[in-house]
Amino acid sequence: MLSLTECPGCKEKYKELEEFISGVKNEPGILINVLHKAQELFGYLSEETQQFVADKLEVPLSRVYGVVTFYNFFSTKPKGKNQIKVCLGTACYVKGADKVMQRLLDDLKVGMEEPTEDGLFSVHAVRCLGACSMAPVVLVGERDFYGRVTPDEASKIIEKYRRNENGKN
Ligand code: FES
Repeated sequence: MLSLTECPGCKEKYKELEEFISGVKNEPGILINVLHKAQELFGYLSEETQQFVADKLEVPLSRVYGVVTFYNFFSTKPKGKNQIKVCLGTACYVKGADKVMQRLLDDLKVGMEEPTEDGLFSVHAVRCLGACSMAPVVLVGERDFYGRVTPDEASKIIEKYRRNENGKN
């Protein structure tokens, strides 16, 4: 029997995942769909979650792990609530995206892809976002887009999200 982490809401999430799996269990090629669902629920695929999926689908853990590491849309590490994506494509890079990235990492005191202690932010490098004329560009979450970002503006972007988060508490 698995001992599942007692994180807030995890029991419910595992229950939902189990229900999803029983609904689709006999469909062919279901592993990727199940992993998508698991990542949607938990935000990333921990070893524990991968083990859970392997047990429920009755497949070896090595197979689950193989799929998770093969596709780059699966993540095995937790991400921040606000994911800050810095484009490091050529146009952005020549306009100083590396300095923007460095400022974000310094301000947040984290390494790349590592969530801040409070879990609010993580910083990620991405390839061309298709807005090269606005280089360097930063995307927060899936929708908040910032163009021609300077290191100082990058600091302000963090402050803005911090203020919004504090306003919610
Ligand atoms: S290189 Fe950054 S948007 Fe194209």
